[in-house]
Amino acid sequence: MTQSAALHTLLDAAKAWHSALPALSEFVHWPQDLTYTERPPHALPHIAHLTAEPGVASAVSTPLRDAIITAAPYIEWRHTYTEEEVGRDFLNRFGWFELAGPDGHFITNEARLTVGFWGANLHYDWHQHEPEELYSVVSGHGQFMIEDQDTLTLGPEGTRLHLSNQPHALTTTDATILTFVLWRGAGLADPPRMSP
Ligand SMILES: [Fe+2]
Repeated sequence: MTQSAALHTLLDAAKAWHSALPALSEFVHWPQDLTYTERPPHALPHIAHLTAEPGVASAVSTPLRDAIITAAPYIEWRHTYTEEEVGRDFLNRFGWFELAGPDGHFITNEARLTVGFWGANLHYDWHQHEPEELYSVVSGHGQFMIEDQDTLTLGPEGTRLHLSNQPHALTTTDATILTFVLWRGAGLADPPRMSP
């Protein structure tokens, strides 16, 4: 398999996921200006955990989960955060990538589509960003926290909205979690930052 074939198969699965969940398709339209770009794959340690323990998926989310696993060796995985910010264990069992966006495997300026994976028993501390964000859970489950709101435990097909610059956090317990995340609005190219 080539990188292009793996990424295009993954994009098709992501598009099907986006159209299957009304919350996603109502949040932002599927980008119309997607342009594939070659990016050197960048492996990170979490790939072994993702492959061995991707978490339970639903009938609707299984094709996307499996396409992510198949494409994993071809993906430019990122950490963004430093060991000083999140610790070594977190970096060993976390990774994300930009499927589509200003700096993604597919270039678009209409939205940002990313995928994130966390191992079990990790805490992604309070952070925020200017774009509005809609999380969707592909497999596994986790606890989604928003300042001044109830914590929600979400599994496959669960979604949660984060407003512009609204602090939020994520904790995993006894399972890993694989998420597909949409951003819309200003600041698509900027990284999230830890909340003050
Ligand atoms: Fe976020």
